[in-house]
Amino acid sequence: MSVPLHAGTDHCAGPERGEITPALERQAEELVARYPVSKRSAVLPLLHLWQETFGYIGPRGVEWIAQKLSLQEIQVLELVTFYPWFRQRPYGKFHFRVCRTLPCALGGSGKTFAALKNLLQLKGDAQEGALVSEDGFFSLEYSECLASCGTAPVVLCNDDFHEKVDEKRAAELVSACR
Ligand code: FES
Repeated sequence: MSVPLHAGTDHCAGPERGEITPALERQAEELVARYPVSKRSAVLPLLHLWQETFGYIGPRGVEWIAQKLSLQEIQVLELVTFYPWFRQRPYGKFHFRVCRTLPCALGGSGKTFAALKNLLQLKGDAQEGALVSEDGFFSLEYSECLASCGTAPVVLCNDDFHEKVDEKRAAELVSACR
């Protein structure tokens, strides 16, 4: 069974596990030092750093960043909820994003999405958010324009960009992950 993220009010997975290491603290300090006029400007770099480290941004990350930058936690959380790139729950080890904006939709991204959903044996309503496999290995969600409209349908697998992904190509991408 797959789990729809962002469903209902269960919006957050809870505190992120893992150690806040001296190396992470050092990286954060270096990022903050780049903004001597207003350290608050480091909030987006710190959000990226936290997500890259822990996989998502939960309450622990929000609190840590707010303390570092002397912000209210709500000022950090509103950025996490505004930008689709930031995750409040863990995604799969392999996370697929399928563009659904008009050029990709006309190019068949709906079929690509359905093929991936079927191949990854995911269930649930993707309109409610990302779908995650029970073993946490795969997740899938829709995305808005990924800025390569001429090569629709476009798919991101983690940070790797794939163009003209039809159902056959989708199967190849999944095989490459296994
Ligand atoms: S519409 Fe899909 S990349 Fe722009």
